[in-house]
Amino acid sequence: MAVSVAGIALQNPVLCASGTFGYGVELEPLVRLDRLGGLVGKTVTAEPRRGNAPPRTFETPAGMLNSIGLENPGIESYCEEILPRLRGRAFRVFANVAGEDARSFARLVSRLDRAGGVDGIELNLSCPNVAGGLDFSTDARLAREVVAACRAETRVPLFAKLTPNVTDPAPIAVAAREGGADGLTCVNTVLGMAVDWRRRASRLSARHAGLSGPAIRPIALRVVDQVRRAVGGPILAAGGIATAEDALEFLVAGASAVQVGTASFVEITAPERVAADLPALLASAGVGDVNDLIGTLPKD
Ligand code: SIN
Repeated sequence: MAVSVAGIALQNPVLCASGTFGYGVELEPLVRLDRLGGLVGKTVTAEPRRGNAPPRTFETPAGMLNSIGLENPGIESYCEEILPRLRGRAFRVFANVAGEDARSFARLVSRLDRAGGVDGIELNLSCPNVAGGLDFSTDARLAREVVAACRAETRVPLFAKLTPNVTDPAPIAVAAREGGADGLTCVNTVLGMAVDWRRRASRLSARHAGLSGPAIRPIALRVVDQVRRAVGGPILAAGGIATAEDALEFLVAGASAVQVGTASFVEITAPERVAADLPALLASAGVGDVNDLIGTLPKD
């Protein structure tokens, strides 16, 4: 089950997705974290954030909307209190950060680099719930600029997390790689909305929100395919992955590893279950090594 993603050795290709699993440590009594390939923490910003006012989640058919607004304890707390608790474990640690511009992204990356203990850094270029959050992954020039500024601060592998909310993700993926990203995470949430017609009001205080869960899986798969054909890998896939079957679809389509996200809200052990189910599913298809399956979907 072991895979290597941008030089990061994972014991299996299943990670939890940012924003769906806290920082992992909170879930320790409930989940056997050491069975996961990796853990991607909730986005961290320079200062602590309370996020948007409630209501900020709403369940939809086959998914959910969220407009959390990047609630987090801030980079200092993350480095001082959370990271030390994640060291020396079987899973790999991925931090996820968001800044307001290239310089603030770079400062966050520099702080993580100094802290140590981070195997990979995901750059959240695509949060739809804060002013300007989407700009970094809807504008190729900005994406390149942010990634290049971060690249200058660290040798830790960088992953640019892309939005599906563009006509064509390929130029953004190309720009992120040109800026120095080692890999790409595809995808963040799809912009959506829910209305309570009786109250004549949006169901979420932020009006618009990000849709995740099985409803967006075909969209995520299509973006993985487009990005792989444009720039190759490595790709971390996210978007409605809830079963080992789902995971293998993304691996065949070119992802090197998958992130289980919204499924964790239904079943907190979903990432662990997906990882545990993979070997038997692969064996049933006569595949002994998951690497023999990755990227086997013909490109044409
Ligand atoms: C949020 O905190 O609003 C969600 C983060 C994201 O979608 O990037």
